[in-house]
Amino acid sequence: MVDELKIAETKIPPIRNGTVIDHIANGQSLNVLKILGVNESNIDSVISIGMHVKSSKGNGWKDMIKVEDRELHPNEVDKIALIAPDATIAIIRDYYIAEKFKVKLEDHIVGLAKCSNPNCITNRGEPVVPEFDVESRNPPRLRCAYCDRTLTNISDNLL
Ligand SMILES: Nc1ncnc2c1ncn2[C@@H]1O[C@H](COP(=O)(O)OP(=O)(O)OP(=O)(O)O)[C@@H](O)[C@H]1O
Ligand SMILES: [Mg+2]
Ligand SMILES: [Zn+2]
Repeated sequence: MVDELKIAETKIPPIRNGTVIDHIANGQSLNVLKILGVNESNIDSVISIGMHVKSSKGNGWKDMIKVEDRELHPNEVDKIALIAPDATIAIIRDYYIAEKFKVKLEDHIVGLAKCSNPNCITNRGEPVVPEFDVESRNPPRLRCAYCDRTLTNISDNLL
């Protein structure tokens, strides 16, 4: 039987070596690219983005990204979890999946984002690393461990 959802995904070209970030929350792919620090002057391999792709898991839409010749740093994976907690990371070697795992959103976040409250102790030039408690997971909502404020826009406040 023809799997129409698989066909939709295969419109995004396969890669020989690199990383597939799949099951990104719908609309978050550009924020994931920002986490990867992609800009035209620092990358010399192909990146393909699927935005608003039908998810084969049945529940609506997702984004996905395929990056050639690049594997992710743990710090990047941790940040992706903050905006796309269902994302899966597949490492592709010679066209096959060599490794695959899901991002993990911890209960307590240290040092990945800054507080959006300008008066917070973490924003006053003191040597205090920002910390957050995860209040809800999907979509993620973070509360500052110092001033209690809910982080309004996570992707704009990533460090
Ligand atoms: N060589 C490749 N180049 C590009 N993308 C690939 C390659 N091999 C696999 N992928 C992609 O990597 C992701 C994970 O592959 P997998 O075969 O585990 O998919 P799946 O069975 O649909 O799993 P899931 O339940 O995570 O959707 C998919 O999005 C798939 O399209
Ligand atoms: Mg799939
Ligand atoms: Zn704060």
